[in-house]
Amino acid sequence: MADKLWQGRFDQPTNRQVEDYTASIQTDGRLYRYDIEGSIAHCRMLGECKIISHDEASRIVENLGEILREIERGKFDLSPSSEDIHMAIEQRLIQKIGELGGKLHTARSRNDQICLDMRLYMRDVLTQCRSLLIELQKVLVSVAEENLGVIMPGYTHLQHAQPILLSHHLMAYCEMFRRDEERFEDCYRRTNVLPLGSAALAGTTFPIDMEWTAKYLHFPKVTSNSIDAVSDRDYLIEFNAASAILMMHISRMAEELILWSTTEFAFIDISDAFCTGSSIMPQKKNPDVPELMRGKTSRVYGNLMTLLTLTKALPLAYNRDLQEDKEPVFDTADTVISTVRLLARLLPEIRFNRERMLDMAGRGFTLATDLADYLVRKGVPFRKAHHVVGQIVQHCIQKNIELRDCSVEELKSFHKAFDADVYPYLEISSVVDQRTSSGGTATSRVREAIGRTRTELEAREMILKS
Ligand code: ARG
Repeated sequence: MADKLWQGRFDQPTNRQVEDYTASIQTDGRLYRYDIEGSIAHCRMLGECKIISHDEASRIVENLGEILREIERGKFDLSPSSEDIHMAIEQRLIQKIGELGGKLHTARSRNDQICLDMRLYMRDVLTQCRSLLIELQKVLVSVAEENLGVIMPGYTHLQHAQPILLSHHLMAYCEMFRRDEERFEDCYRRTNVLPLGSAALAGTTFPIDMEWTAKYLHFPKVTSNSIDAVSDRDYLIEFNAASAILMMHISRMAEELILWSTTEFAFIDISDAFCTGSSIMPQKKNPDVPELMRGKTSRVYGNLMTLLTLTKALPLAYNRDLQEDKEPVFDTADTVISTVRLLARLLPEIRFNRERMLDMAGRGFTLATDLADYLVRKGVPFRKAHHVVGQIVQHCIQKNIELRDCSVEELKSFHKAFDADVYPYLEISSVVDQRTSSGGTATSRVREAIGRTRTELEAREMILKS
């Protein structure tokens, strides 16, 4: 490893194993763009505040720009000769412009530097997550619209409950993803604060201007306590918590897609391009993509636990433990971004088996509630109606018939209020369309929800892009 920038107070060189153990460049190397962006802002501020001269600031900025290009063209290898990304870039700067390069780190510590890098990185990640979630919701809305009118069984306890529109079921996920998007938006507000200038933990004696740096880097606020600023990892934990909830939603959907593509359900067929085969069973077509989405959810949960455990007993302010925050955060970001992106591609590749869904929607006495509601409309108290219909269901099970196969006389034998006008209550499509309460499954309501969601999505997309 090259000579350390902090070598001054040491008599002996660092032990090789210690170097390997403490180095983080393999992980934080990917922050190079943010590190340079932050250093340029810091250096310009030093110049503005006359802590270094304007000429000095310009030369450093110019060379930082060159280093960025070197890295991007693969001309400057970040691996693994330096301790971390901050050291690597500063060392390269000093290599290029000599002693002057050593002025960059005035009024700054790696403790506030890494916090800035991570906040810059998280702003990009959060924006990307929000925009991918908007795309995913748009896809869901389109699939819901294309399939408006498809009726399926709605479940509770994974038992047939009441018939619903497939589109209503899909739009339920849209609601979840909107809340996920809001959580990322909320997290963005707390991420969007400038910590640079907090230095090691206590601030600095130099007459720096944090507001200037904040403005330059488009942060609307600066941190208000230097100790908190270098210790705070809340925004990373929040991002992970929001991601864990998002992955939980995706995993629920994945679970349904897996179930629905079984021979037992036979509700959907996922296109070949999004499935994989078996190395031994020639007939197999497996839903590996949703399975892996369900599987990857667990690593995001794990990352959240890592971060919470990492921070739970840390005394203020900075501790080297905090270096371990990068891998879980990067892993979560990579997992969420690739998963949401792929899910948006997968959904249009699903063919819904309308006949099968409709057929199943009527089985298992899913209209029993509607039969009870019929009696209630004739003045029978709901509890009584519930009991009567329960007896009719039992009668049907014994005779192996459906509710609608019962004659009026048969029904009358259970309660005198039954009449010939009962049959519309036993027709699936009319039953679905009568559930017009807000947020209900009636076609009119679902059409409304689709329209409203689309308008809201477009508005949020405009705001995000501006
Ligand atoms: N690489 C460290 C991190 O990721 C930042 C450097 C702070 N190191 C130190 N010895 N104070 O947290």
